Amino acid sequence: MNSDATVTLALSKGRIFDETAPLLAAAGIAPAQNPETSRELIIATNRPDVRLVIVRASDVPTYVQYGAADLGIAGKDVLYEHGGAGLYQPLDLGIAACKMMVAVPEGFDYVGAVRQGARLRVATKYLRAAREHFAAKGVHVDLIKLYGSMELAPLAGLADAIVDLVSTGNTLRANRLRAIEEIMPVSARLIVNQAALKVRRALIQPLLESFESAVTTHA
Ligand code: ATP
Ligand code: PRP
Repeated sequence: MNSDATVTLALSKGRIFDETAPLLAAAGIAPAQNPETSRELIIATNRPDVRLVIVRASDVPTYVQYGAADLGIAGKDVLYEHGGAGLYQPLDLGIAACKMMVAVPEGFDYVGAVRQGARLRVATKYLRAAREHFAAKGVHVDLIKLYGSMELAPLAGLADAIVDLVSTGNTLRANRLRAIEEIMPVSARLIVNQAALKVRRALIQPLLESFESAVTTHA
């Protein structure tokens, strides 16, 4: 855990920071630098008791789990893969909303392949969610771990299907893929280190309340 006087909030650049910025502003928190342009990874704010740390989206739960950050903002996709150990997840912020879906090439007969008991090759960054989804359906899959650009995998012959996030559907369309099954709705959640919340409730609880009312106002 950090110094007793400062609360550390872990965020990722890009979409999560962009969509969190209005909530931070509504909670009275103004970053001293723009993380999109600054190379610094620890960013002070106008509040001496609040600082930001900028990490990869998939690393946010890890920083919070181990208390290197007290709070964080992470997508449900990332939280599901992490497993949530040591984390309290008090608030769905309703930002960075999308769906985790199974997608296949436009001409691929998914239903037929499944009916025949074929073993599908599925490329994804989301191994746990994919494994559980297909196991629940009784579909046999070989999972191939990727770190991004999942849409390329079927086009390049690496996989029959992908599990990825879909928002507008533009990326799927641009690559002649179609979404066939929803695995889960995804949005970003505020996460809190469980021990920090107990020990430093006086500092953290007011921040949770600020976020809660910021979300209600922006809803
Ligand atoms: P990492 O850098 O750790 O690999 P990433 O590249 O997936 O992560 P972002 O693209 O910034 O990081 O996504 C952060 C979060 O935003 C995701 O975990 C997900 O919850 C959400 N997200 C991803 N894609 C979309 C999308 N197209 N529309 C809305 N939300 C999305
Ligand atoms: C995400 C996701 C899809 C895309 C879906 O990628 O992995 O590729 O968004 O959004 P759409 O349905 O609106 O097209 P992102 O833009 O975050 O790129 P990344 O995977 O390289 O981070």
